[in-house]
This record gives sequence, structure tokens and C-alpha cells, in this order.
Amino acid sequence: MPKFEPVCRDMMQAKFGQEFDLILCVFAYHHVPDSNKAELCRRLRQWSKPGASLIVLEICLHADLIAQYYEEVKTHLNHGQYAGICRKFLDWTMQQPVDGSDNSEWKVPKARLLSDFEAAKWRLRNEQSVWTPQGLPTDTGCFYFQFTTDGRR
Ligand SMILES: C[S@@+](CC[C@H](N)C(=O)[O-])C[C@H]1O[C@@H](n2cnc3c(N)ncnc32)[C@H](O)[C@@H]1O
Repeated sequence: MPKFEPVCRDMMQAKFGQEFDLILCVFAYHHVPDSNKAELCRRLRQWSKPGASLIVLEICLHADLIAQYYEEVKTHLNHGQYAGICRKFLDWTMQQPVDGSDNSEWKVPKARLLSDFEAAKWRLRNEQSVWTPQGLPTDTGCFYFQFTTDGRR
């Protein structure tokens, strides 16, 4: 059984005394201001072993489609005991605070995400759309990406 030790650190400050085979970056990249996104990608690269995998799950959106995206998500939340609270959460998410608080979000289009990770020498191995709302462009929505390193720094 692999050893698993949870740690809680600021990903823009953290230093690790080891490198990792697998890194998951799940709905985290959009919490970093656009000007720091490339630095996050470089940091993830520094923490990885040669040949490591990086799994990124992310919501990719042009700024002008954020409201439309979340309105579509809300239309799929019409039943179930948690629908009400989920809708409230989505209304709050749609407000997109960009004040640097812990809740701040900076969602970007898919092309920007791919360019940031590729610039940090992450190679795209697999990409899948998880969900794109009807009526929105196909490069919009929730995506799964698998990147790998080619062993070089
Ligand atoms: C949308 S949540 C995703 C949480 C989790 N990965 C999941 O999928 O359920 C974004 C998370 O990123 C965390 N976060 C934002 N900025 C961070 C930073 N600089 N360092 C570490 N975590 C951060 C937030 O605290 C929040 O828990």
C-alpha cells in the first residue's frame, strides 16, 4: 500500500523535500490569478519525477460565458434533496470574486490553460471533455487533461 500523508500548504509557496510520480490539480488552477498561472505550472513541474503524470480537472471558460455556463449547470439541478443548496452555491460561484481572497476565481479558456502547461514542459497525453453545456462552444466547459513529463527539466 503506498504511503499517503495529507499536507495543507499554499501551492504558490510550498516546498517539498521529494518529487512525485503523480500530481492531481483538481479545480485549483482557476484559483490562481492569471499572472501567476504559468508559475503554478512550473511549480507542478518542479515537484514531479521524470516521467510523472499530472491530472488536471478544470472548468475552461471565456469570461463572457461564465454566467451562461452556470445557468446551464443550474438547469440540471432540478431534483434531489441537495438541489436547493447546490443552486445557492452556484449563484455564489457565478459572482466570481477576483479580490485575492481564498474564494477568488480566474477561469480561462482551454487554449490558455494548454499554453501555460506546455510552456512549463508538460506534454499533453490525453484530453477529454467531461461536460460542455448545450449551446456553448466545444472548447468550453469541464475538461480532464493528462499531462506527462518527458524526463527533461
Ligand atoms: C474548487 S476547490 C477544489 C477542491 C478539491 N480539489 C475538489 O475538487 O474538491 C478549490 C480549492 O483550492 C484551494 N486553494 C485555492 N488557492 C490555493 C492555494 N494558493 N494553495 C492551496 N490551495 C488553494 C481552495 O482552498 C479550495 O479548497
